[in-house]
Amino acid sequence: MKSKAIQILNDNWRDGYSVPSKNLYPYQWLWDSGFIAIGFAYYDMDKAEKEIETLLDAQWENGFIPHIVFHKISDSYFPGPNFHRADLHPLSNKKYPSTGMTQPPVTGFTIEKIYEISKDKKASLNFIKRTIDKVFKNHEYFYYNRDPKNEGLVYIYHNWESGTDNSPLWDSIFETMNPPVYTFERRDTSHVNPEERPTQREYDHYLHIIDIAKSYNYDDAKIAEHSPFLVQDPLFNAMLIKSNKALINLYQLIGGNESKIEQLKSWNAKSIASFNSKLYNKKLKAYVHYDLRNERPIKLVSSSSFSPLYAGIPTKEQAAELIETMTSKFGGDSMYLLASFDPTSEKFNPKKYWRGPVWINLNWILYYGLQDYGYNDLAQQIKSDSIEILDKVGFYEYFDARKSEYKKDSKGYGGGDFSWSAALYLDLIN
Ligand code: DGY
Repeated sequence: MKSKAIQILNDNWRDGYSVPSKNLYPYQWLWDSGFIAIGFAYYDMDKAEKEIETLLDAQWENGFIPHIVFHKISDSYFPGPNFHRADLHPLSNKKYPSTGMTQPPVTGFTIEKIYEISKDKKASLNFIKRTIDKVFKNHEYFYYNRDPKNEGLVYIYHNWESGTDNSPLWDSIFETMNPPVYTFERRDTSHVNPEERPTQREYDHYLHIIDIAKSYNYDDAKIAEHSPFLVQDPLFNAMLIKSNKALINLYQLIGGNESKIEQLKSWNAKSIASFNSKLYNKKLKAYVHYDLRNERPIKLVSSSSFSPLYAGIPTKEQAAELIETMTSKFGGDSMYLLASFDPTSEKFNPKKYWRGPVWINLNWILYYGLQDYGYNDLAQQIKSDSIEILDKVGFYEYFDARKSEYKKDSKGYGGGDFSWSAALYLDLIN
């Protein structure tokens, strides 16, 4: 299994970056790159560093990092650069075509993790010195441009920015959106069973939000004013807070940089306070998303609800309640940890992308989060479940949480030879 994981990562390596899965995702994706670099760090530090440096090379002048960098144009993916038209933004990167949206900011904790894994700390410290200010600038971008009410909680304006693309979380927002019917050719469904992917009508919503952002040349203030999708996402914000913490640790290691450290600490103090007062739902005993456009909490539990554990956000009492919710809704002898959406909900779909399947990156995040809070048994379970699933079916993109579905020739879902499943396996078995 270990050599297969390495082979997948090597096969998905292009000239300076990795693709998540050969035909389905033929470009560089932001949060994929972070998780992939962690896998490379175990056996090829040059690639780990290069993966992140290439991503940061695509950063915009305002600090923004796009969610897809379209390195070499491929006709196996839609929508490509001609649809996204990120070049409409005056500060977009002139070297690389990209999207005009971002993805969970994992880069900060990724570079810290690379440093931790490294056997040559001196060389890795040089890598940190080369990259850290760019990551800081990215965080600055978020707090200056994505937090219109100055709450310390940044918004996402597209479901693709969340990373949890078609989660039932977004259904209530899409219900009132009423986008036009687009004529376009899906490419994803020619690589993967359509039952495991978003619907055609869901894609209309996705494209419509992009068209609105384009009509404002991707101006953040205008997007905040007009985008029909505007959400404070606990997963996205937890990744930012965790990455802030990583940058504090790394700046302390480098020495100097006092004002940046102070800035990061003050962002986190404010963010964590808002996070716990605004995004924690006492009744559900879970963190929930907040629909900023319609000023209402989205009262649904998903794997994102537990991700704040990884960033040290919950109090001990909140953590205990989260565990109660996790084990009562997502646990039990017949289920692998952890479904991406509440298995007790009627919206749970065990095969469809982010509407229920297990994802290895979320399991990885929760494994470390549970460990940090001392829930060692549960941490071990989520880790051994992840390894068992991968051992049984291989390095797919997502997986059924129902143990009864695993027969002799069962497969996973979505793309095959999926890079972050392979990369994070290398970390989990370590
Ligand atoms: C896709 O095309 O499904 C991607 O997840 C978008 O980021």
